[in-house]
Amino acid sequence: MRQVMVAGNWKMNGSSESVKDLMVGIKAGMSAVLNAEVVVCPPAVYIPRVSGAADGSVIKVGAQNICDQDNGAFTGEISGAMLKDVGCDYAIVGHSERRALYGESDELVARRFAAARRNGIKPILCIGETLDERESGVTNQVCARQIDAVIALEGVTALADGVIAYEPIWAIGTGKTASPEQAQQVHAFIRGKITALDADVGAGLRILYGGSMNPSNAAELIGQTDIDGGLIGGASLKADDFLAICQAAN
Ligand code: 13P
Repeated sequence: MRQVMVAGNWKMNGSSESVKDLMVGIKAGMSAVLNAEVVVCPPAVYIPRVSGAADGSVIKVGAQNICDQDNGAFTGEISGAMLKDVGCDYAIVGHSERRALYGESDELVARRFAAARRNGIKPILCIGETLDERESGVTNQVCARQIDAVIALEGVTALADGVIAYEPIWAIGTGKTASPEQAQQVHAFIRGKITALDADVGAGLRILYGGSMNPSNAAELIGQTDIDGGLIGGASLKADDFLAICQAAN
């Protein structure tokens, strides 16, 4: 049985004050969230504060990125050991904004995935196609290429230590969600591809959907056979919306 997971990617939003309020709001509603594993991924500077607020609750904390190196002269980067030290259980790697805006290659993302594993952090590997790629019919190839970079570096069994998030780029922050059928098709492709290499890894791997998920579309998306939860951007910044998605995941 794959446990449903709902993760909030807060991206570069918030302040000391708003982050505190958001955590108070989420914690207050957690008793109604029965089955889902709930993760919040704040901006790095707020991780210690959010970890403190999450203490004693079932809410887990994740980072939005992780350095591929373990320590040394890597200005501006944050290591896996540091993230572990401040209470992170998860780290997002390869978010499309990192790939598109900061030039992160499939190979660098794979090294970040490896760094997370080395440091006992579960990587959330983001993959997904642009609108052009979807319209050219290469969605599956793009997703396969992004996953293959991790398999080439770490082997297929490494995927069992993490989570995949399928986030079609055209659906991120646009209010345009992939239909449940469109999302399920890609999720089934991803699971099938991994299952062909290792049946146990494929069956156990959680594959989240991300891209304009909200309280009104979450239940139908998460209800699809191969969709095991969501990675939520905008709607994770409002406690009520985020909690409604967590409850839909029940
Ligand atoms: P939105 O939910 O705002 O579309 O963002 C999705 C996302 O990028 C999560 O990582």
